[in-house]
Amino acid sequence: MRCLKVPKSRGEEVRKKLLDADLLDNRYRIGNEDDHLLIPVKKKIAEGSVDYKLVDRELVEREMEIGDYRNIVDIPEPLRDELPASYDIIGDIVVLKIPDSLHGYRREIGNAIIESQKKVITVLEDKGVTGDFRVRDVEHIAGIPKTVTLHREHGMELMVDVANTYFSPRLATERWRVVRQVSPGETVLDMFAGVGPYSILIARNVKIEKIHGIDINPRAVELLEKNAHRNNVSHLVEAHLGDARDKAPRIDADRVIMNLPHSAMEFLTHALKSIRGQGVIHYYEILSSDEIEHRGRSLVVDIDRYGYEAEIEVQRVVRTYSASEVHTAYDIKVYG
Ligand SMILES: C[S@@+](CC[C@H](N)C(=O)[O-])C[C@H]1O[C@@H](n2cnc3c(N)ncnc32)[C@H](O)[C@@H]1O
Repeated sequence: MRCLKVPKSRGEEVRKKLLDADLLDNRYRIGNEDDHLLIPVKKKIAEGSVDYKLVDRELVEREMEIGDYRNIVDIPEPLRDELPASYDIIGDIVVLKIPDSLHGYRREIGNAIIESQKKVITVLEDKGVTGDFRVRDVEHIAGIPKTVTLHREHGMELMVDVANTYFSPRLATERWRVVRQVSPGETVLDMFAGVGPYSILIARNVKIEKIHGIDINPRAVELLEKNAHRNNVSHLVEAHLGDARDKAPRIDADRVIMNLPHSAMEFLTHALKSIRGQGVIHYYEILSSDEIEHRGRSLVVDIDRYGYEAEIEVQRVVRTYSASEVHTAYDIKVYG
């Protein structure tokens, strides 16, 4: 999308001017690049009418403001403060966690969300992600009863079955961070591919040799294949149904993505076997915040034990997972 690249020191001043001139595109978050801000602007902005450079960049869509639903939902006043402050929008479906104290008002909450969000036609209660397939237990609370939807992210279209496959829109920024590191000609292995958000995004944006997506959930692999087709990248994406422990070591890759943060450590040796010569592993774990540094060092030791040299190039918090835990990413350079 169109962005104005503005030095950080002038960012707020320029943002206000764009807002006054109705040129700010509020649907996207302001991005960062070098010492500059990337301010999303509306298409009608004229080249040469501004002091700064206009560039095309991918920016993250803003989570929808949901203050509205909290103002209109029909519940007793003392309970209003307990209403969820955020929820996930996947295509035209909203998925949200509801505290026990509001259980009796689920329908009112669902109806208020539909009323306040033009694009949303279904609201599902999220009762947690479980099992090997990492699928959500969901219950329909308002609107059209369905679980399959078409989600758009960074220009790709993904068919998602929210009840039978894993998908989180909250990883959009992290996915884009990974895509930007992939070089043309690479073979990539997406070890826990789900419906294909990493695989498809990479195939759409980089001239890769191939991306292999493995998943043990047949429904996820079915949608991965459909999504590759829908996004015109089926010649670049090879889907594999099965256990990554068996499949990964048989695939030669320059880069491996290990997005199974609760148990990725069990698969590290299988990921290493797939790296040809040297490569990068994008490794994810759920950790308490004070463990991040230590886990980085111990990962290097673990990998050394398997006979490879490793260097942590990046370690970063992807998002808060619970009151005490964070979803953490490590980009690990590995030498065989
Ligand atoms: C957290 S989800 C990530 C999906 C996808 N990468 C994404 O970002 O949406 C983890 C995925 O790993 C799959 N999975 C779990 N155990 C597996 C195994 N042993 N081998 C292959 N896939 C597995 C699950 O079915 C699930 O789709």
